[in-house]
Amino acid sequence: MNCCALASLRNSRCWGEGRRQREGPPAPFGSIAAHELACSFVFKSSVTWTSKKKHRGSASSSTIPLPFVGNLTSGVCLSSFPSSTSIGFALGISENKLSRRANRGKSSSSGIGRGDDSNSRILAKAMAGADAVASAAGTAETKAISPKGRAARVMLVSDLDHTMVDHSDKSEIALLRFNALWAAEYSQDSVLVYSTGRSKKKYEELRAETPLMTPDITILSVGTIISYGESMVHDTDWERVLDQGWNRDIVVEEAKQFPDLRPQEGSEQGRHKISFHVDKHVAQKVIEKLSRRLEARQVRAKLVYSGGIDLDVLSVHAGKGEALAYVLEKMRARGCPPGKTLVCGDSGNDAELFEVKGVKGVVVGNAKEELVEWYNSHASPDVFKATKNCAAGIIEAMQHFGFKPATSPRDVGSLPATADGVDLELSESASPLSSSGMRAIVDVNLFLERWWRGEVPREADLLERCFTGKLSPDAHIVLPDGKEMGAEKVREHYLSTYGKFKGADYRRWFDRASEVEVAPGVWIIKLIQWDAPDHKWRGVRMTVGLREKEGQGNGMEMLFLHSTAL
Ligand code: GLC
Ligand code: MG
Repeated sequence: MNCCALASLRNSRCWGEGRRQREGPPAPFGSIAAHELACSFVFKSSVTWTSKKKHRGSASSSTIPLPFVGNLTSGVCLSSFPSSTSIGFALGISENKLSRRANRGKSSSSGIGRGDDSNSRILAKAMAGADAVASAAGTAETKAISPKGRAARVMLVSDLDHTMVDHSDKSEIALLRFNALWAAEYSQDSVLVYSTGRSKKKYEELRAETPLMTPDITILSVGTIISYGESMVHDTDWERVLDQGWNRDIVVEEAKQFPDLRPQEGSEQGRHKISFHVDKHVAQKVIEKLSRRLEARQVRAKLVYSGGIDLDVLSVHAGKGEALAYVLEKMRARGCPPGKTLVCGDSGNDAELFEVKGVKGVVVGNAKEELVEWYNSHASPDVFKATKNCAAGIIEAMQHFGFKPATSPRDVGSLPATADGVDLELSESASPLSSSGMRAIVDVNLFLERWWRGEVPREADLLERCFTGKLSPDAHIVLPDGKEMGAEKVREHYLSTYGKFKGADYRRWFDRASEVEVAPGVWIIKLIQWDAPDHKWRGVRMTVGLREKEGQGNGMEMLFLHSTAL
């Protein structure tokens, strides 16, 4: 059987201990009985381990087999997002137009249309808005755990390989559907967390070749590193927690006694993670012996065996579950616990995530046997087994748990049937308007994707309804190649470029979106738009000005769009 089990060397005690930790982080400088060595591990044959059930608090047994670990890939890392100064710049470009509009629309209910705003006042408002957001954000950590200074509406915590990323689907359409939903409906008030076994290097390799959005929090190397924001600022307090009872040198020294342990490459070794390859047939014996030796030397370690080859020796406080509990505790302590938390995984070493108090969980449809077995023995209304794979399973779970919205903009809206397998009628009543600025931008761009793929009819009316009708009459557009045009020219331009990617796998997705309401009903949105005209993701930095149209429920109109190729 291709399975292994997550086990604790001192079964119930160890797992129970982990469970307590996951309900709250260990006190950074709390005392530890040195003799209390605890090791848990994943090893190759089925082993029963004991755990306290989250909901009933009773001890229960479960057999879970070997976690699968995805293939590693190569690539480069991404660049950083521009500072808020470009808001002022972008507004500067359009200020005459905004001002003209202001004078024209004195009766308008929107802030800018209300009358006497001079260009400089508009610009000052824009800058003040940007500053307010920047100061509310504070450090990378504060910004990551409390979007715009508030408690997150939703925190979504996902494993990457075979959970968020489907390595068997070259089109990556499920991930793109999730990205569109997150960017349009969650990115401004919710927190996205990746929790992976990969080191920073291997994580960046994956990001370089996969359309993965920039998360707010990145938990790396099996919960041994917690980092915040796109600059990935390390949580050094967490590192101090992991120091407790841990002695790296002793682990390295003891491991040398085992010729079967082959150290993994340097990038995968960390301060609280020492990783090896060890063949299945000797793994269990090696793990047991090494655990005993570490115990004798009073080192508190957690041994995790994954994929029939990887052995991670971690600080006993590490692991995906412990790291998440620590972050949640930090949010609570700062008075900003997330409204809802959804954890997502596919394999045995994700099981810890589901044990964290107060979370909902999804075991994706393609989950490995060990996690399915864990799920079967931990029946709970808080854990959902999706029928769909990877990111499609995550969306399915969002629907199951009543997250709103939980339908990807790729699947609904004013768009006709698509190659994504979504069969929607082009409804006359489909709204050309959107609930938020980000949603409006995502909808327009998904329409353009389909327009250029030649998936929608080449009709001026359709173009008008889904895109050009949303342009303010005096809108100003700057394309990545530097071409500038007004609204009229935009119509001509898009009519003449219809179908330019027909037959190609052309897609668009969005990252690092930030929006600021610079005046009542007027929004400046910055984001990176990625598209792949030739199977290679290409980034464009965009700044977009949007305004709520006059009259209730009339949606947004685009004042300007300024794009620069990365
Ligand atoms: C990732 C890491 C590796 C680790 C494995 C299992 O593949 O790169 O170091 O052993 O996950 O956790
Ligand atoms: Mg996985």
